[in-house]
Amino acid sequence: MLRKLFRKKTPDIQFIDDRIESVKRKPIPNHVAIIMDGNGRWAKQRKMPRIAGHHEGMKKVRQITNFANALGVKALTLYAFSTENWKRPKLEIDFLMNLPGEFLNTYLPELMERDIKVEMIGNIEALPAHTRSAIIKAIETTKNNKGLVLNFAMNYGSRVELVHVMKEIVQEVEDGTIQKEDIDENVINSRLMTAHLPEPDLLIRTSGEVRLSNFMLWQLAYAEFIFTNVLWPDFNEECFLASIEDFQHRDRRFGSLEGDQKG
Ligand code: FPP
Repeated sequence: MLRKLFRKKTPDIQFIDDRIESVKRKPIPNHVAIIMDGNGRWAKQRKMPRIAGHHEGMKKVRQITNFANALGVKALTLYAFSTENWKRPKLEIDFLMNLPGEFLNTYLPELMERDIKVEMIGNIEALPAHTRSAIIKAIETTKNNKGLVLNFAMNYGSRVELVHVMKEIVQEVEDGTIQKEDIDENVINSRLMTAHLPEPDLLIRTSGEVRLSNFMLWQLAYAEFIFTNVLWPDFNEECFLASIEDFQHRDRRFGSLEGDQKG
């Protein structure tokens, strides 16, 4: 069944099938977070405008979402627009703001068919009305789906998120609904926009940049990191599979001396 996900049949198809089966026998990361970087460089390499790279990147969102869902990943958080991306030229911002609408209008029936649930983290209020309504429609339509959670980080910044959580907690202390002594990691976790999701196990960043760029700083505390030189529009199922294989070879100790149960 997974074979169908690989559009191009290659002589290596049996090898890929075997790799998929092998990966599925080992623990799959519950939550994968991806910093989708390199769209601009992909376009530049082809003498195309930057927005062409973003459009190609959108197609990869579909491909990787379907593949992650088929592998049994529970949540996929994709960094689609950061609070810092507003500094880009207006034309590029306008294009990026149209992508959720295009993506969701085109693929909503497929997301429903595959039982995928759309969610979003970030400040939705500051998005243009058409972007907001496309996202809200997708969230509403897919809210009862039980498969992968496709979580778009749009107008998201981790520091803004943490400042918001801190203000909320200070307010609760002032109101007397929580005592200062009772503030612990769980109190903070439960107020994050990702509160209902499993903690990310794996972070992938494409395009060779090695930084977090204000992405889920708290949540990624114990995630495994994979930085690949592949540009996001070139990142395919095989790249995702290789990342999961790499993850499955990591010795996750969470600060202790012994490896965890995840292998
Ligand atoms: C970073 O690459 C990428 C972005 C800021 C946008 C990512 C968005 C997508 C891949 C599409 C999202 C799709 C939906 C449906 C919301 P860059 O432009 O910084 O690349 P560069 O570093 O090569 O210039």
